[in-house]
Amino acid sequence: MQKRQQESRSELSQFGDTPPEEFRKQLHELADWIADFREHIERLRVAPNDKPGAIREQLPKRAPEEGEPLERILTDVDHIIVPGMVHWSHPMFLGYFGWTSTAPGILGEILTAPLNVNAMTWRTCPAATELETVVIDWLRQWVGLSDEFEGVIYDTASVGIMHALAVAREEAAPVTRKLGLTGRDLPRFRIYTSDQAHSSAEKAAIALGLGEENVIRVPSDAQFRIDVASLGQAITKDRQKGSHPMAVVATLGTTSTASVDPVPEIANICRQEKMWLHIDAAYGGGFCMVPEYESVRKGWELADSIVINPHKSVFVPLDFSVLYVRDLVRLRRVFSLVPEYLRGDTVEAEKNYMDYGIQLGRRFRALKAWVIWRSLGRAGVVARLREQIRLVNLLADWIKKDDHFGLSARPSMGVVCFRFIDADDKKLDQLNTDIVERINASGRAYLTHTKLRGRAVMRIGLGNVLTTEEHLRTGWKLIKETADAAWQKSKTPNSRAQTNFNQRNPKRAKRD
Ligand SMILES: Cc1ncc(COP(=O)(O)O)c(C=O)c1O
Repeated sequence: MQKRQQESRSELSQFGDTPPEEFRKQLHELADWIADFREHIERLRVAPNDKPGAIREQLPKRAPEEGEPLERILTDVDHIIVPGMVHWSHPMFLGYFGWTSTAPGILGEILTAPLNVNAMTWRTCPAATELETVVIDWLRQWVGLSDEFEGVIYDTASVGIMHALAVAREEAAPVTRKLGLTGRDLPRFRIYTSDQAHSSAEKAAIALGLGEENVIRVPSDAQFRIDVASLGQAITKDRQKGSHPMAVVATLGTTSTASVDPVPEIANICRQEKMWLHIDAAYGGGFCMVPEYESVRKGWELADSIVINPHKSVFVPLDFSVLYVRDLVRLRRVFSLVPEYLRGDTVEAEKNYMDYGIQLGRRFRALKAWVIWRSLGRAGVVARLREQIRLVNLLADWIKKDDHFGLSARPSMGVVCFRFIDADDKKLDQLNTDIVERINASGRAYLTHTKLRGRAVMRIGLGNVLTTEEHLRTGWKLIKETADAAWQKSKTPNSRAQTNFNQRNPKRAKRD
């Protein structure tokens, strides 16, 4: 009898799933793996320094014919995958907008995996649908957005803006949903955004058949905010030429400097011109939770749509982006289309999130947000964002006090843009780019560079809960040492000077 049971178990493992006791053992192993990874992440290089193809070279070209034990798979993860990664969760990862991994966030992801539902309609998973509505509303309350706005969760802000502009397009050119844009006597539709805005506006225009060139990049002012006078002029000029100004995309937390566009003035123009106002608060939206940053949201209640990425600033693991639309029915009108085989699944009284976008199958994203937000609470989120702001200000002070470096923009939220400035002006762009590349290649830290007014600058984005003041100090020391090395290397071979910065200028040395 026992033998027969064992046989049927092994059959089960061959034709069905892993036997429960083996699965339990594997889960424990994996739990240890995850806990070790998190505990010792600092021992890893932040980024590899391999040539493209280095990972592929270590992997078989053909898919496996026979199944393999988890142990062997995990060994390859340790030896091939982990060393081939940029570790966004590493405390010395200071690139982009920092990162949002936390232990509760990881648990939320883990919890989602076994449930593995498809939340396309309410009936296909009531809990997933209703929890989505709940967490969208929690975030709305936390960031202080009025209840005229309801939302939908997508993977990214790029997908969010595409859906928002699809509604704007439908309202500017009714029945586009049914008839499309071509073969009709329609004007050129124009979208306006600043020269600092994210490229997702162009991507949306491409996807919607509006055309990349119909996204007009309006110049920004000295603080990298859209210049409202230039915006007004661009709209007037387009109207005179017979184009149809359709939408403005304002940004709260631009990609390079986290600057904030003047939304009240932009909203005024949109109201006068009857244009859609989309607010890209992908990064800055989360910071509206911090009382000192409440001014960031000034005027946003006048928007038609707002996108916020909790995976950028509210500690939800990638991917999790919320598009809020004033009067969400407008979004539904464009995207609701019930295929016959799902007709029985749709219950009018409840939301069916498949009606609010092009995606039919939808994963249970709300669960991880619910886990992390319950674990941290509003106070926990705000405390962590405040710590990021404190560290940013500290770094900005170090930069200001150092004659070799200068701030390139006013520090905002978790972002500092700065520049090594103590060399021949012609060499500075290359030097700043070199410093970033050298640091990233060292595996000791990771930062990014960007261009501001055509000049290369270094950029640090904080966000990781593991990054402490000590890490930042280490990073700053590394930047200074690397800048010195890059500067030495940039000198002509004949130059005899073997000094470092401080020896070069004793006055500075004394002060440092
Ligand atoms: C301001 C801003 N908006 C939108 C995006 C696009 O975000 P996603 O990757 O969620 O599409 C980014 C990306 O960094 C961004 O910085």
